[in-house]
Amino acid sequence: MSKKLSVSEAVYARKSIRAFLDTPVSDELIRKVLSKASRAPSGGNVQPWRVYVLNGGVIDRFKAIVRAKVEAGETETPEYAVYPKPLKEPYRSSRFKIGEDMYALLKIPRSDKPARLRRLTHNFRFFDAPAALFCFIDRDMGPPQWSDLGMFLQTAMLLFQEIGVDTCAQEAWARWPRTVAEFVGAPPELMLFSGLAIGHHDPNHSVNDLVSDREPLERFATFLK
Ligand SMILES: Cc1cc2nc3c(=O)[nH]c(=O)nc-3n(C[C@H](O)[C@H](O)[C@H](O)COP(=O)(O)O)c2cc1C
Repeated sequence: MSKKLSVSEAVYARKSIRAFLDTPVSDELIRKVLSKASRAPSGGNVQPWRVYVLNGGVIDRFKAIVRAKVEAGETETPEYAVYPKPLKEPYRSSRFKIGEDMYALLKIPRSDKPARLRRLTHNFRFFDAPAALFCFIDRDMGPPQWSDLGMFLQTAMLLFQEIGVDTCAQEAWARWPRTVAEFVGAPPELMLFSGLAIGHHDPNHSVNDLVSDREPLERFATFLK
């Protein structure tokens, strides 16, 4: 296990990993991280996150089910729209750039739409991660509680990073709400928010060289005088 990181080090070390090794991550370790992550703050301390963990033979079974559906060209009505339509500036350009930067590393040109679509389906095998979780929320909850889920997930991602385990949050799973809910046995009142792939990054895969941009402080923060 690698040396523990400070919070700042973990923040800078974390990035979305989109190609994992098959090195296992134990349930025990995931249990420890999730217990700690539950110290994340939430408005009114309602703690609205509901989590299902898939590991070992379970995640293999789930991947096989989804692979069959993807290969058969099946689709489901998405649980929610991931982005507003249209996505206005400057958000649209930011989203466009991360996609273009990723496909450039993968050497998939804009003209090769089928290859880009095939690459997107790697989401639905958790980028080959050996473990994953799904984060759900009660359908009665609103935007404030959804933001609590983000705090929980980022806390979990940093805690994983602290012990040298990589992650990728995956709202792409919103496209498979029925399959996911049925497999994990989530009650109907729960709504799928995001997946989280968990594992160790493949250092030899070019997609993991992707380093995302950030806006300068002046673009998003205003200091009143
Ligand atoms: C809630 C959430 C959902 C995300 N869903 C996906 C996804 O479905 N597929 C994917 O490849 N990346 C996904 N990402 C990763 C973002 O693209 C990534 O966080 C962003 O580009 C910044 O890059 P970084 O995480 O490497 O810093 C998601 C991130 C968040 C926070």
